[in-house]
Amino acid sequence: MILDGQLQASVQAAAAALQRGELLGLPTETVYGLAADSDNDAAVAQIFTAKGRPANHPLIVHVADSDAITRYAKEVPVFAQQLIDAFWPGPLTLILPRLPDAAKASTGGQDSVGLRCPAHPVAHALLKACQQLNPPVWGISAPSANKFGRVSPTTAQHVAAEFGDELLVLDGGACEVGIESTIVDCTRGVPVLLRPGAITRDDIERACGQRPLSKEELQANTPRASGTLLAHYAPNAKVRLMDAKQLQAALDMLGTDGKNIAVYHRSPLSNASQGVHLRPMPQQALGAAHELFGALRDFDAIGAQLIWIETPPDTADWEGVRDRLQRAAAAG
Ligand code: TXA
Ligand code: MG
Repeated sequence: MILDGQLQASVQAAAAALQRGELLGLPTETVYGLAADSDNDAAVAQIFTAKGRPANHPLIVHVADSDAITRYAKEVPVFAQQLIDAFWPGPLTLILPRLPDAAKASTGGQDSVGLRCPAHPVAHALLKACQQLNPPVWGISAPSANKFGRVSPTTAQHVAAEFGDELLVLDGGACEVGIESTIVDCTRGVPVLLRPGAITRDDIERACGQRPLSKEELQANTPRASGTLLAHYAPNAKVRLMDAKQLQAALDMLGTDGKNIAVYHRSPLSNASQGVHLRPMPQQALGAAHELFGALRDFDAIGAQLIWIETPPDTADWEGVRDRLQRAAAAG
């Protein structure tokens, strides 16, 4: 995509801000990130402070293309290269063995580094502009631009709501994918799925000929991954997951006392009591992912105290959405 003049100027200004060690709200196709120069440890430290994120939860390093991998990773296993060829640029993060001295603060000193080449045209333009600076910025570290444990932002307005107007945010519109990238650990000899996303287990198997193991299947100490903590993505309201029958039964029991309850459902429901806020969930997994975090924020905005959500189907395409909902429900 050719960026219009004003956006191109904003991209240049954003690249310069990163080079100066400032933070930036960055649009990607998954969610918005809170970005800093990966090789500027002081700038990266500000990300942890702003998010309230523990320093031992490593950040993803975003790169312009697969050539930049060699600045951060020591080696790329064959199956990892196959995944790169199939899915970059796109919503896939690979954990690779780290080069000593590269992106130290971002990785919390772990011997691995998470790398992703985003597909969003604004993110891509920014990464390219950063490479052309003198000195260049080769990698952009960016966790999701939300306070630790909260719902990830999928619009520039969500980012401003989290961090205030002082933060420079590049507005790239609503994120197309809507949930964070799929993360595959490539440091174990076999692909291990650390976080499900729009690129599914089936997609990964098709691309590299190996079905990724889950962390449980690996039965070893996996690197720490905050996006994989059980309780995460917490809206203010309490989230409960139920199947369609349980949901209908719960609604029937409510009688007329349904205010402060929001219901996010895929199956048709009858006899919804007065005051219950009903919101249909898209029938397709990709559509549901796209609007998921915005929907959780909307429920908070209307003052819902309880969010009852119909459990999505138990199929590979729904794994990313199911994962985010289960962890939102685990949060309290
Ligand atoms: O889609 C995404 O991945 C978004 C956009 C902004 O790119 N970013 C994102 O970042 O979701 P964050 O920090 O919220 O989640 C990154 C996850 C965390 O769970 C982190 O622990 C894990 O990636 N991670 C990063 N580097 C890692 C490493 N070396 N080993 C294991 N996990 C790692
Ligand atoms: Mg996050």
